[in-house]
Amino acid sequence: MKQQLEEIKKRALQALDDASSPNALEELRVKLLGKKGELTAVLKQMGKLSAEERPVMGQLANSVRAAIEARLEERKSAIHAAALEAKLAAEAIDVTIPGEPVSLGKQHPMNQVLQEAKEIFIGMGYTVVDGPEIELADYNFTRLNIEEGHPSRDRSDTFYFDDDDKVLLRTQTSPMQIRVMEKMQPPIRIVAPGRVYRKDEADATHSPMFHQIEGLVVDEGITMGDLKGALETLVKRLYGEDAVVRFRPHHFPFTEPSCEVDMQCFKCRGTGDVGGQVCSTCHGEGWIELLGAGMVHPDVLEGCGIDSAKYSGFAFGIGVERMAMGRLRINDLRLIFDNDVRFLQQF
Ligand code: DAH
Repeated sequence: MKQQLEEIKKRALQALDDASSPNALEELRVKLLGKKGELTAVLKQMGKLSAEERPVMGQLANSVRAAIEARLEERKSAIHAAALEAKLAAEAIDVTIPGEPVSLGKQHPMNQVLQEAKEIFIGMGYTVVDGPEIELADYNFTRLNIEEGHPSRDRSDTFYFDDDDKVLLRTQTSPMQIRVMEKMQPPIRIVAPGRVYRKDEADATHSPMFHQIEGLVVDEGITMGDLKGALETLVKRLYGEDAVVRFRPHHFPFTEPSCEVDMQCFKCRGTGDVGGQVCSTCHGEGWIELLGAGMVHPDVLEGCGIDSAKYSGFAFGIGVERMAMGRLRINDLRLIFDNDVRFLQQF
């Protein structure tokens, strides 16, 4: 029996040393120490022993059990420690690996061109002013001679805030003309850049939100020649001396006479055709409308308390995104608003 016990101890300790998982240890515990375990089986034979042998074997059996239990605990913590170490090693962060560089942003291309235009105007003596995007219909339309029932006042074109069509998202920066003339007497020479809103479907040259730069010059003896000079200076500084633009008669209720200025389409070079297809940038027109302008209507001046017998003025409203398209050779206006970094990084 002594030999049997020694044998059990030897095998048990070896098996415990070989076990490598908590589950394997638990199985061994049951097998070695459990009610149906090997040790128990040997102890059951104690009855057959003589009275002298019994306490000796009892002691031996207890020491075998104690040795197995001790080794079991030892192995349990060793396996646990090894698992923990493996987990820590797997999750270790190597603080010496260089970090991901933070990419630096820069000014949006639309704002780059807006900034250029502002600087050109400042160079010509203009002051830059700012005004509200939420505007009264009175300023956006009525005081600009745009009477009730005019199509641009329609709810299908304009975002109104109320049911009686009094407050709206400005559809143009032209109400800034009224806001400035209400406060100032001539000489006036301002530009007012900002966002405007229209219920337009987005396409290559339209967006429901876009930017305009309003310009207003009022003084004694201002003529259409001054208007042409100012706008040509802008266009040549932005696009180069050989830029092709055209002035075309038009109608605006708040200017008389009025005109529109187009730039030749840079994509199809004015032909309206790209490889046998209708040019998608100018819709085959060959020209891209850049701005509206004209001599400030006397009624608009008078409505702001400016003597139209003494003073005259010109005004213009430039589409900033269209201007940026020509300046940066962007063939679809939607790209300007998508804010895809791959696009923006090019400028
Ligand atoms: N506000 C006009 C528009 O959005 C553009 C415009 C035309 C502005 C003539 C002006 C102007 O100042 O004189 O279509």
